[in-house]
Amino acid sequence: MHKINLVNELLPELYPENKALNHRLAESMNYSLSAGGKRLRPVMLMAAADAIGIDGEKFIRIACSVEFIHTYSLIHDDLPAMDNDDYRRGKLTNHKVYGEAMAILAGDALLTASFNIIAATPDIKSTLLVRVIKELSYAAGPDGMVGGQVIDLMSENTTITLNELRQLHSAKTGALFCAAIRIGAILAEATEEQLASLTNYAMEFGLAFQITDDILDVIGDNTKIGKPVGSDEKNHKSTYVSLLSLQKAQKAAQSAVDKAVEALKSFDSKADVLRTLAKQLLTRQN
Ligand code: IPE
Ligand code: IPE
Ligand code: MG
Ligand code: MG
Ligand code: MG
Repeated sequence: MHKINLVNELLPELYPENKALNHRLAESMNYSLSAGGKRLRPVMLMAAADAIGIDGEKFIRIACSVEFIHTYSLIHDDLPAMDNDDYRRGKLTNHKVYGEAMAILAGDALLTASFNIIAATPDIKSTLLVRVIKELSYAAGPDGMVGGQVIDLMSENTTITLNELRQLHSAKTGALFCAAIRIGAILAEATEEQLASLTNYAMEFGLAFQITDDILDVIGDNTKIGKPVGSDEKNHKSTYVSLLSLQKAQKAAQSAVDKAVEALKSFDSKADVLRTLAKQLLTRQN
């Protein structure tokens, strides 16, 4: 079965509504989890293990826990106090359906449930699970995604340098991709050298991913991206397109994709999924 289907199958089972303390909260969490999405981070976690030569599907539960955190970050990103967007993954945003208070709490719940799922994973050594928790909590936290989101908000209505924008992108988006890839590699017991190469790949992938997200926010088709086009302009965000121009942003994405592929040069064909995912960024429509 395709990795993405495995993810879509397991996700709703990890926090089943019928066993929840509060049914409305569980419904709100599952509304966003089951809305779809590309499932890139869990797929890449498993693909990183495959690249080392270990079947990544063994780590599906951990992979899904990363998607819990990503989904929480999207619910909060769309809130009126942040990007104030009404559509996500082709559906109304969580706060539009459940209200702001429940959307905040559904985000909090997905974040904390993620670590509970990891800690309760059977058949993986506890020393490895602690490393996973260390990677993920760092990447999602103040020196990773949350820190990046703060810089993103503080950079509205101002001009920042390209270097500052790169740092912003690498924190708000690169960090979680980096964690996904590193966790897959760590669980597959990669060597330090393999881990370093995959980390380079993930940093460049994350940068290219956010540059293409900025591009799609300008030239995308909102029926395909499932979220509003023009959100960045509405919020006066600093993006690759606003800072550089569309053409230069496309070049920057190309350069990051080239570097991502280059970082995998010591890997054989087992890393082809990672190579293809990077190249596909340049033509993605959602
Ligand atoms: C959107 O991520 C948020 C960013 C980091 C730009 P994705 O584009 O991976 O969103 P889904 O999961 O496919 O909806
Ligand atoms: C947010 O970046 C990335 C997150 C950490 C959620 P954006 O605000 O550009 O993401 P989209 O375009 O709304 O998906
Ligand atoms: Mg945002
Ligand atoms: Mg947004
Ligand atoms: Mg965006």
